[in-house]
Amino acid sequence: MSLVRCDQTDAWKNLRTHFDGSARDFDARHAFIADPARFDTLSQEAPHLFADLSKNRIDAEAETLLLQLARECGLEARRDAMLAGEAINSTEGRAVQHTRLREPGTDDSEVASVRQAMLAYAEQVRGDLHITDIVNIGIGGSDLGPQMAVLALEEFRAPAKRLHFVSNVDGHELAGVLAGLKAENTLFLVSSKTFTTIETMTNAQSAKAWFEAAGGRDIARHFAALTTNVEAAAEFGITTTFGFWDWVGGRYSMWSSIGLSLAIAIGAKAFEDLLAGANAMDAHFRTAPLERNLPVRLGLLDIWYRNFHGFTSRCVAPYAQALRRLPAYLQQLEMESNGKRVDLNGEPVPFSTSPVVWGEPGTNGQHAFFQMLHQGTDVVPLEFIAIRDAAHDLPGHHPKLLANALAQAQALLQGKQDEGGHKHFPGNRPSTFFVLEKLTPASLGALIALYEHRVFVSGAIWGINSFDQWGVELGKVLARDIEPRLETGDTTALDPSTAGLLARLRQPS
Ligand code: F6P
Repeated sequence: MSLVRCDQTDAWKNLRTHFDGSARDFDARHAFIADPARFDTLSQEAPHLFADLSKNRIDAEAETLLLQLARECGLEARRDAMLAGEAINSTEGRAVQHTRLREPGTDDSEVASVRQAMLAYAEQVRGDLHITDIVNIGIGGSDLGPQMAVLALEEFRAPAKRLHFVSNVDGHELAGVLAGLKAENTLFLVSSKTFTTIETMTNAQSAKAWFEAAGGRDIARHFAALTTNVEAAAEFGITTTFGFWDWVGGRYSMWSSIGLSLAIAIGAKAFEDLLAGANAMDAHFRTAPLERNLPVRLGLLDIWYRNFHGFTSRCVAPYAQALRRLPAYLQQLEMESNGKRVDLNGEPVPFSTSPVVWGEPGTNGQHAFFQMLHQGTDVVPLEFIAIRDAAHDLPGHHPKLLANALAQAQALLQGKQDEGGHKHFPGNRPSTFFVLEKLTPASLGALIALYEHRVFVSGAIWGINSFDQWGVELGKVLARDIEPRLETGDTTALDPSTAGLLARLRQPS
């Protein structure tokens, strides 16, 4: 498929003209007055959720031109190539097929048989009264997805199982978790696509040593590996292994056996519901016309904000404490996918790519960084995620939570002009508002798939490879070089700053 440079299309040039003409000064408040149907036009249903885009700085002309941009860049063909299993991850020569993992009743025997085995094992662990604590050892995509989802679906968790997540090579994390565990009641899940990641291997070795020191012998019962590198897991001494495939990217892997901790927490049926929710969003992405295709609309809005408005970041505020790890999950999803500076041909791109993605749950964020969102010098588009029905019955809390979400979006839009100086709010600060009826496995699956596809859309328009991550390699190599120097003190060929810091860190206490 030939690469169309987005900034050389007619649509891009027209978007530039439109932006420089009137769109730069677009005011959503005026747009609501001019167009009483704006909310209807710019909001929509998608599987398991509702999205309101109407408070964004976008008008009909920009939307039309962005859709034209999508067509000129061959977005539909790129989407179809991914869904058809073409090797679109060109720098690694791999297909990108996480959507295959969530196809229901698939006759894809390889996928179905691993899923069945993994879910049967999850049920077995759920029924094993001796196993009370499950420790997932993994990092990046082998940690963030399952951890985020286990927290999000706490309501569905088997009460007799405690889930722990250890990712950092900082031994304080593993030591802290191990301190509360008994070897005979613990199951370690070593989650690593490659089974070579230094943090995970170090934590896994230490966990194994702790287990054996505590008299544990039955590794087969107390350790399982989730990996594409079955041989390395066997070499490590783990015989209970659930595999997956190189066409599942690390940050897209929570649907694979990497999701085992989640499956143990919520059970096989609920895990299948999660897959079904994601699959419903996949079908929407595949079939909905571009103008009513939510991932497409969001991805195009991202282009509009990043490349024309020049907004450098996007904030995510889930008004749901259960979604507290969602911003961290989305950081990897978007910034590892689209934090690229060359196109598919390896040529530097002359436009900006991934924004910084950040956030915290509401209402907590309101008492921390929302000040900047309302009155700072930078405009930061904000994403609200609200859940209509609470899963608790404490009176008064949920209306206050929802009222705050609505009020913040309203305040960002309206601002406050009747006072000047310090009490002036400029308003017209853009936000998108998602509503889920309930936080369930299905709605969570749909929400995550929505974000995955939206990241795909902006990456496809930019013509970058959203599925590799070479940028994480250099630091790994240098860390291997530095580690022995902390012992020896050798600073040969180090820059003066690194040498100085190394010496400082070696100073005796
Ligand atoms: O940070 C780089 C990365 O390769 C991520 O893409 C991945 O999710 C993470 O490391 C963990 O990798 P693995 O699952 O192979 O241990």
